[in-house]
Amino acid sequence: MPEFQFDEIGYWSQVKLEIIKRYGVEYSKILTSTRFDHVYMDAFAGGGHHIAKSTNELVLGSPLNALAIKPPFKEIFLIDLEPAKTSRLREVIGDRKDVHILEGDCNTLLLETVFPKVRYEKYRRGLCVLDPYGLHLNWKVIETAGTSRAIEIFLNFPIADINRNVLWNDSARVSPEQAARLTAFWGDESWRDIAYSSEGNSSAIDTKNRSKLSQRRSVIDFSKSPGSSSCLNRFPCETAVARLFITYTLLHQIRPETES
Ligand SMILES: C[S@@+](CC[C@H](N)C(=O)[O-])C[C@H]1O[C@@H](n2cnc3c(N)ncnc32)[C@H](O)[C@@H]1O
Repeated sequence: MPEFQFDEIGYWSQVKLEIIKRYGVEYSKILTSTRFDHVYMDAFAGGGHHIAKSTNELVLGSPLNALAIKPPFKEIFLIDLEPAKTSRLREVIGDRKDVHILEGDCNTLLLETVFPKVRYEKYRRGLCVLDPYGLHLNWKVIETAGTSRAIEIFLNFPIADINRNVLWNDSARVSPEQAARLTAFWGDESWRDIAYSSEGNSSAIDTKNRSKLSQRRSVIDFSKSPGSSSCLNRFPCETAVARLFITYTLLHQIRPETES
């Protein structure tokens, strides 16, 4: 069996887990009172537990939080690319008819295996948690969920990866492979218009766009602007995601004094 390594998570990830859990509880309560069967999908599921950096204690991951929700989801789909993570999920959860643990790329598994089982016409609804480490999600997944009428998503926007690898001041230095990763996630190249004055070949961002971008960066790079939420200018929510979903943005910038 492949060896399982716990991820160490910061306080902000614990807050994220708490938000998803509380949302899941209310979602399940509401859907239970309707004629719909409701399912939970965790596309970047992880191995079930993490270690909290601050206390060194074991923390439940999003799949185990979902399993504990009452009233329960009718079915639970857990996907992870790494065999060590799926093996551990099987070990921790055991054999359950209502839980499906799938190993592989969620971009394929969601579209081909999971979403087809969550159809409005079949009186099914689903909450799909998309919590990648970085730019590992394809737009097609978001689009398919958004047009299904049955599936809502909880998307952890991969801000750090975007900032670190693509949204550089000098776009000419960004590798085409990194830019293509953002395009695959974003669905098209419109991110270039938001960030840069002229598509593809601007060697520097002009003054107007520099200020636009820095505003956006202050949203994206929340860790550098603790305590301020006034910079929220709805990036990226006024883009394609908002055409498909009612969108709520959670500015996730809780940094306790004790955390460095
Ligand atoms: C941030 S962790 C998920 C943590 C989990 N949601 C939680 O809070 O407990 C991201 C996970 O996505 C997995 N992963 C990365 N790329 C993937 C892909 N294309 N399809 C499915 N899983 C993927 C990684 O192996 C990792 O376990």
